[in-house]
Amino acid sequence: MSIYIGSDHAGFGLKNVLREHLKAQGQEVLDLGTFDAEVKVDYPDIAREVAEKVRTNKDSAGILVCGTGIGVAIAANKVKGIRAANVHDVTEAKFSRLHNDANIVTVGARTLGEETAKEVVDTFLTTSFEAGRHLARVEKITAIENEQ
Ligand code: RB5
Repeated sequence: MSIYIGSDHAGFGLKNVLREHLKAQGQEVLDLGTFDAEVKVDYPDIAREVAEKVRTNKDSAGILVCGTGIGVAIAANKVKGIRAANVHDVTEAKFSRLHNDANIVTVGARTLGEETAKEVVDTFLTTSFEAGRHLARVEKITAIENEQ
C-alpha cells in the first residue's frame, strides 16, 4: 500500500517524525511536502495534493498534519471519494477505519504528542473496514457527494 503524507509549516516537524516512523517499518511513504518549516504554506494546498493522490491510487492511504488537523481534514473532504478523519487517539483511529472506511487520517501537531500520533497512524493503517451494516452508510456518504 502506498502512503501519501503531507503537512503545512505547522505540521512539518510531526509529519517528518511520522514519515520516518513508517519508513522504519518498511512502509512505502511518499512525502508531498512541505519541505521547509520556515516558509508558510496554506494547508488547503497540501491537503488537496494528498487527497487527489489517494483518490486516484486505489490501494493507498493518506496522512495529513497541520496545527490542529482540522483545516487539512475540511479541505481534503472536499475532494470526491475522500473520507478524512481528524483523529486524537487510538480508539478514534480504529473506528474511523472499522465504521467509516476513512482513507485519510489527519492529526494536529499542536494538539497531539508524537507518541500518540505514531500510535494513531499505526492503528489507522492496520485496521480494515468492517463493511457489513457500515457499507450502506458509507455508500450514503458517496451519494451525498454525487448529488453536489
Ligand atoms: C496554521 O497556523 C494553522 O492555522 C494550520 O496549521 C491549521 O491548524 C489549520 O487548521
